[in-house]
Amino acid sequence: MKNLALFCIVSLLTLSAAYSPLSDDTLKGIPDPGDDFNIKDGALLAPILRTRVSGTPGNAAVLQHFVDFFKTTLPEWRLEFQNSSATTPTSKGKKIPFINLIATRDPPGSQIGEVGRLALVAHYDSKLTPTGFIGATDSAAPCAMLLHTARSIDAALTKKWEAVAAEGSSQLEEPKGVQILLLDGEESFHSWTATDSLYGARALAEHWESSFHPPASTYRTPLDSIDLFVLLDLLGSSAPNVPSYFKTTHWAYKKMAAIEHRLRELRLFKSSANHPARVAKRKNKGLRAEGYFLVDSEKSDHDSAFMGGFVEDDHVPFMARGVDILHIIPSPFPRVWHEMTDDGKHLNMDVVEDWTRLVIAFVGEWMELDGFLDFKSARRADYTEKTEL
Ligand SMILES: *[C@@H]1O[C@H](CO)[C@@H](O)[C@H](O)[C@H]1NC(C)=O
Ligand SMILES: [Zn+2]
Repeated sequence: MKNLALFCIVSLLTLSAAYSPLSDDTLKGIPDPGDDFNIKDGALLAPILRTRVSGTPGNAAVLQHFVDFFKTTLPEWRLEFQNSSATTPTSKGKKIPFINLIATRDPPGSQIGEVGRLALVAHYDSKLTPTGFIGATDSAAPCAMLLHTARSIDAALTKKWEAVAAEGSSQLEEPKGVQILLLDGEESFHSWTATDSLYGARALAEHWESSFHPPASTYRTPLDSIDLFVLLDLLGSSAPNVPSYFKTTHWAYKKMAAIEHRLRELRLFKSSANHPARVAKRKNKGLRAEGYFLVDSEKSDHDSAFMGGFVEDDHVPFMARGVDILHIIPSPFPRVWHEMTDDGKHLNMDVVEDWTRLVIAFVGEWMELDGFLDFKSARRADYTEKTEL
């Protein structure tokens, strides 16, 4: 009993110390994706802006794009597939394959079962109907945001872990990692039911629930290893209204909302009416009211009106197994939702960039990367590597 109590105190201490805000200078330095988000020929987003229904060549091509991106740009990330198959209401008895891609970056030398992870999640499949549906917000843009995020924090993770190792203080700290889940088969083929939807997420949650780490590990399974499951969906339309859905993760929502407030105050939010580029274009230079993305920053933890599981999405099978969820999805859904108009042209690229900056900063704070996020030299290193190839 005594040992257990001591253990609890120690974990509480590390938990409370495990999130630290980024400085203004770091926030100012966060790189925008630039041409990589160009919808016609940008390296990150354009290859995803195509039909990619599960089990079709378009789906396989997008998956290959992700694999190529990590293999060439981020070799330190461990890649795994989690494959399953299922019949669907439209497959005429044929089994359709569903392939999830898991990209993980853990501290060097860490043992499996000892690392708690921040999971960043989006689905990459597109909906079968209407024919030709692209799903730019659903969820091509969120996938591109996650690729750019991984790239933006990669060098800082290396530097941070080198510094920790140099100090020799690694034993005291609980190792923390980052994981990107690009899930397949979120969309229904016919109409949304418990069995016609979330094919990839259901298979992954089930698989991970029964994949046991060695006995006496800190975390029992890869599912337990997820400290927070941040799901991005339907992002990239103008003026999103994203509530805080879950009481248990409202604290994390408020951290992200605090970053949004700071980015707006620093005039770094491109979609804000007060961004210098917008102010310069209008006659009346006075400040306007900010229309926040994360609208529940003031909501109390004791508020009884959390929407909870109202919106069904890839988090459901994970939440059902006790994983903490931060669901970043607008309510109401974007006007283009499940319409042909959810394409590259209808994305608001300022909003896409703002979400990306917000996610990068959130991960930077979660992983305590302030002082290590030297974006300029990270970009130089990238460039050197590319020119040497
Ligand atoms: C899972 O799917 C990927 C992508 O199609 C494939 O490369 C891999 O070999 C598959 N893995 C297994 C164990 O079948
Ligand atoms: Zn959808």
